Amino acid sequence: MSDPVTAFSATPVRRRALIAGITGQDGAYLAQWLLHQGYEVTGLHRRVSTPNLWRLASLGLVDHPQLLLVGCDITDLSATLRLMESVQPDEVYNLAGQSSVGASFDQPLTTLEINALGTAHLLESVRSTAPRARYVQASSSEMFGLVTKSPQDESTPFHPRSPYGISKLAAHWLTINYREAHGLHACCGILFNHESPLRGLEFVTRKISHGMAALARGEDIPLRLGNLDARRDWGHAAEYVQGLWRMLQHPEPREFVLATGHSLTVRGFLVAAARRAGFEPVSDGQATEEQLCDANTGRLLARVDPALYRPAEVDEVRGNARLAADLLGWRPTLLAEALAEEMVAADLVRATP
Ligand code: NAP
Ligand code: GDD
Repeated sequence: MSDPVTAFSATPVRRRALIAGITGQDGAYLAQWLLHQGYEVTGLHRRVSTPNLWRLASLGLVDHPQLLLVGCDITDLSATLRLMESVQPDEVYNLAGQSSVGASFDQPLTTLEINALGTAHLLESVRSTAPRARYVQASSSEMFGLVTKSPQDESTPFHPRSPYGISKLAAHWLTINYREAHGLHACCGILFNHESPLRGLEFVTRKISHGMAALARGEDIPLRLGNLDARRDWGHAAEYVQGLWRMLQHPEPREFVLATGHSLTVRGFLVAAARRAGFEPVSDGQATEEQLCDANTGRLLARVDPALYRPAEVDEVRGNARLAADLLGWRPTLLAEALAEEMVAADLVRATP
């Protein structure tokens, strides 16, 4: 493992940020934002068979002189302890996680180990070796789960519906407990869905934008989708990572909802994406029989596959980010339809991923 302190010794006055999950969607945008602000950024990434650097590469960051990538899996306490001690960060962003709700039903234990235990490792490492660091946890609107009132805010009760939601709730309360019990400056961003052209293909928005771009290029593989009636509050990832940064600049650590306040069905996102790809989608059939075809050519664009429904679904989430607006001055500007257009446009001009 390279030594982060030595690597940055020429610029001792810069603020130091540590990002867990830098190879993910949010990690890449956050690295871009922090480097732009003049930070030294240490990004930890786990060992995988092929380094997952496509997002950092697409933002032109891989060889940035103020960015250091260090191997560290957050399920390994010895590794997180050594890393925290050597970096001595001013700010720690925990974006690392098994982030797929769907996958968490098949891999509940891995999900809990990474998301809950991994978070405990990071918090324990901050407490033991860098207690003055400010810490922010990427909590999730999935914690609300089976909602009884909308919109949800910081005081809405939790009822998670997946192993993922449960793991995130454990991490959320661990973060609050390290603040209350050990005095850490620890915040939680309760993040509603946020997407971008850097989104992973396993999430529905990117699956749709990628699929519509492929159809527009002439490939004849209609999309298979699950529940089209689920509603999500979709914002843009680049705006949400700035919200996380603002939380750590605020003097008082606490929980903040980040959301747009608007929700759209998966079907609504699909229609916006299909239009951007040059189709005029019309729906036919009900629920699990539903399919969408192009009105002009009759071509099948997408159909529902009941096998892709989840064992327990979150039907709708919609957030109220008033507190973040009032205390942090954070206001999202990009909504779902604009996101769909940006994502399809990006997928039309590039190959996978
Ligand atoms: P993502 O694209 O899936 O990125 C997850 C990151 O975590 C990747 O860098 C991944 O590394 C890393 N990671 C996974 N397991 C790890 C481990 N054991 N040790 C170290 N790193 C590990 O997710 P995202 O959309 O950027 O989301 C960032 C965080 O916010 C996640 O914790 C997610 O649960 C949370 N969140 C996201 C949303 C959203 O809508 N995007 C909403 C609420 C909360 P690899 O590249 O090696 O896989
Ligand atoms: N992934 C996926 N694939 N979802 C589908 C599909 C499909 O083919 N068809 C329908 N859906 C529905 C899901 O059932 C869900 O209701 C909705 O689309 C969104 O699914 P995802 O894109 O997988 O996101 P998510 O809302 O479950 O989770 C995301 O947002 C959370 C915040 O609320 C992830 O980013 C989580 O990490 C994040 O915490």
